[in-house]
Amino acid sequence: MFFKKTTLAAACLVGLASGATLDVTNKAALGDATHKAVSNLVSLYSAEKQAGKTTEGAFDQSNVSWYVSGIIWGMVFDNSHYNGDRAQDTVAGSAMLEATFKETGDLLGGAQRTIQEKLRGKWNDDLGWWSLSMMSAVEAYDKNVFIPGGAKFVDVAALTWNEILEQWDETTCNGGIYWSRNREDPSANKRTFKSVITHSQFVELGARLAIATGNTTYLNWSDKVYNWMKTSGLVTADWAVLDGANAPTCTQVDRTEWSYNAGTLMGALAYMYKATKMGTYLDDAKKLLPVAIGKFTQNGIINEPVCTTTPALCGRDTPASMPQFGKGLSQLYIEGDAAMKQQIQTVIDTTLASAIRNCNNDWWCNKEWQQTAAPAQDVYNQYPTAELLVAASAIHGASAPAGTQNGLPSGPSSASNNNSNSKGTGASGALGGSPAGLAWAAGAAVAAGATFFLV
Ligand SMILES: *[C@@H]1O[C@H](CO)[C@@H](O)[C@H](O)[C@H]1NC(C)=O
Ligand SMILES: *[C@@H]1O[C@H](CO)[C@@H](O)[C@H](O)[C@H]1NC(C)=O
Ligand SMILES: *[C@@H]1O[C@H](CO)[C@@H](O)[C@H](O)[C@H]1NC(C)=O
Ligand SMILES: *[C@@H]1O[C@H](CO)[C@@H](O)[C@H](O)[C@H]1NC(C)=O
Repeated sequence: MFFKKTTLAAACLVGLASGATLDVTNKAALGDATHKAVSNLVSLYSAEKQAGKTTEGAFDQSNVSWYVSGIIWGMVFDNSHYNGDRAQDTVAGSAMLEATFKETGDLLGGAQRTIQEKLRGKWNDDLGWWSLSMMSAVEAYDKNVFIPGGAKFVDVAALTWNEILEQWDETTCNGGIYWSRNREDPSANKRTFKSVITHSQFVELGARLAIATGNTTYLNWSDKVYNWMKTSGLVTADWAVLDGANAPTCTQVDRTEWSYNAGTLMGALAYMYKATKMGTYLDDAKKLLPVAIGKFTQNGIINEPVCTTTPALCGRDTPASMPQFGKGLSQLYIEGDAAMKQQIQTVIDTTLASAIRNCNNDWWCNKEWQQTAAPAQDVYNQYPTAELLVAASAIHGASAPAGTQNGLPSGPSSASNNNSNSKGTGASGALGGSPAGLAWAAGAAVAAGATFFLV
């Protein structure tokens, strides 16, 4: 259990302040803190890999769920994208290579698909996290960048988009994507549940793929799936983002509200606006934003209220939830108007100021954001504040420390490459160049030239 409430007085919290201090407006200081926090986290993976404990591109899965590793590699590429800090990209790339079964280039392992779906627990939301992280790599470099030794990141993301879309079923609930990929799962809930997170991820994945590739089919589907989220009632008229509902009718609704669901939907709407320049997505995000901030902050600090009201629902993976709220806020910040930017910056800065009291001078931190706690060197304690620092970097701008600019190699060949089946041209520009400004160039083209159809 993570978010146990205690009643520490505010004065006491200030008195317990520990090592780290940070001026978020100092780009070098923010870049340095982010570099250290992210590097510390990745060092845990490298140590586990050395010890033979990593599998499927993931941190030791007896400690950390596979999907959380996917989220972490996306954070590494976001740090590369926003800050130009590419120091951890090679490790992230090697993990992605394993997760995509090397030259197979498929998170479901090609011919191994049934095993992955039914025995290895690769569900649609798991695929969603990993594929969004592939898009972070695309945005950090360009659409021609390869997983070293493997497929192109964008090709894996596009394949995964198709795999998730296979799970859209209009014969139940008038639509919606299943959470699990196993329609024979003995658990009725797992077999029939259509989870909101899968939809937010899919909407966002489609928007980011459309921006990267110029293919507007993705936008068509994103819009359709987003509309289903609203017509199904899973995103309510007053902007509650519920957890999901069960087929066949989706009248049995899980009304639990998680910060990651709201956060990922904000991110999805931001990318939809980026991809289409249609005000309706930003208008919706503008309505969602204050509702979500009201629900998922306490004393201005990001919070997971369900862990107070229903502690039994919170467990080992819960620390990965609130960082998705911070990430979604930062993605919306980039697209939002001045008023939205102000609201978002206040939440991120207030949360970060509280969180870093629990980091030491080496930027080892603690998952606790509301109250003080000692830094700890494990994945679930280190990841949340590392992600929050990346979110702050997206908002304030940050610069990478010297010597961190070497990232993934250009083109398919590399020292570790063994990919006779690799597709594509191998042309990869922009390596080592300024990451800022590259990422959305294709998006502008989609927005400017686009004819696409809304359903
Ligand atoms: C766009 O993406 C869709 C979905 O993957 C695909 O079926 C279609 O062929 C693509 N269109 C082009 C022009 O590449
Ligand atoms: C968008 O979806 C509609 C209905 O599903 C379809 O008729 C139309 O051809 C699609 N457009 C594109 C560009 O895929
Ligand atoms: C793995 O879990 C154990 C027990 O919870 C913990 O002590 C250890 O620090 C964790 N390791 C990592 C790398 O997170
Ligand atoms: C390259 O990959 C093939 C097929 O997976 C494998 O048989 C071969 O041993 C690999 N070669 C090297 C040098 O790793």
